[in-house]
Amino acid sequence: MKKILVLGSEGFLGSVLVPHLLKFKNISIIGIDECFFGKNNHSSNNFKLIKIDYNLLNKKFFEEFHIIIDLINISNDPASELNKKFTNQTNYLNKIKLYKKIQNNKKLLRYVYMSSCSVYGNNKNLITENSIPKPISLYSKLCLKYEKFLKSKKRIPFTIMRLGTLYGWSPRMRYDIAINKIIRDMVFLKKVEILGGTQLRFFCHNIFACEIISQIIAEKKYQYLNKTINVGNFNTNIIQLTKKILSLTKIKDVNVFHEKNTIDKRSYEVSTRSSRKILADKNFKNLTNKSIMNTYAKIKKDKKPFASKKITLSVYKEFLKKNKI
Ligand SMILES: NC(=O)c1ccc[n+]([C@@H]2O[C@H](COP(=O)([O-])OP(=O)(O)OC[C@H]3O[C@@H](n4cnc5c(N)ncnc54)[C@H](O)[C@@H]3O)[C@@H](O)[C@H]2O)c1
Repeated sequence: MKKILVLGSEGFLGSVLVPHLLKFKNISIIGIDECFFGKNNHSSNNFKLIKIDYNLLNKKFFEEFHIIIDLINISNDPASELNKKFTNQTNYLNKIKLYKKIQNNKKLLRYVYMSSCSVYGNNKNLITENSIPKPISLYSKLCLKYEKFLKSKKRIPFTIMRLGTLYGWSPRMRYDIAINKIIRDMVFLKKVEILGGTQLRFFCHNIFACEIISQIIAEKKYQYLNKTINVGNFNTNIIQLTKKILSLTKIKDVNVFHEKNTIDKRSYEVSTRSSRKILADKNFKNLTNKSIMNTYAKIKKDKKPFASKKITLSVYKEFLKKNKI
């Protein structure tokens, strides 16, 4: 029986990752989450959620796990700019403390850290894992700083996954990420606002990310041991993305407003080579269209598409205010 610890199990990615992993045999999962966005997984024989700040867990607690998947980050640029000290604590300093607690764990086979392709900042060339990161935001600078820490220590077996911007349906729904927001606005507001629009982005369907995580934690050849991989299924710019979503979903009467000026300086195109290699998926192309259609089908049934808890920034703003941080 493989024991898996998912830190941040109730977040956007965690809420689809837990059910995804539970399809596999001989695993049991403990989820740890402070539940900023509610409890989103269901308890079962193989899954238990502990609602707690993971910093309160002692060294002993972590000893029994074979796999630790770390999904905890303030993972949105505006939210991470709210209180820089708190972000530095959450996205970097607390992770160093975690590292010290787990660095001598004999059973640990892999620690998987979810970083971001936003570490590449603005780059005109096609990006691979060998490209030099140029992070712009505090969020991406801290992702990279922790990556460097992990690589320099080499005390635990790790894999760093640099994810593209996620999209897809999740029980902890996020509308502060591009594709989800565009679809929501097309369906419920009949309008889309494009800022800039020529910036290139790398996108990653949440289920696609789960599939890669499950391959990484089950790998027998250790190809991804102590490695960094870029994970995502397609690249496009926001103008083309809007056109693609409209043509696929055939949503009618949408007004598209285009504001050419933007403060968003990030632009990068990332090679899908690593993701293709891991999945060996012949239907890689269809996957993007299918996943967009699937996201659309779920979003149009959302009864509360404008709930503030579906915007990461609103939730952290409220939390910081309430706790006077
Ligand atoms: N969403 C994206 O587009 C994207 C893109 C690239 C990388 N990533 C990375 O993927 C990971 C998951 O992202 P997500 O979108 O699911 O984020 P999320 O904000 O939805 O989930 C994070 C979860 O961590 C929990 N949490 C925060 N601090 C905690 C603490 N101290 N103790 C216990 N729980 C705590 C929150 O309650 C939340 O449920 C992050 O590491 C993020 O940096 C996300």
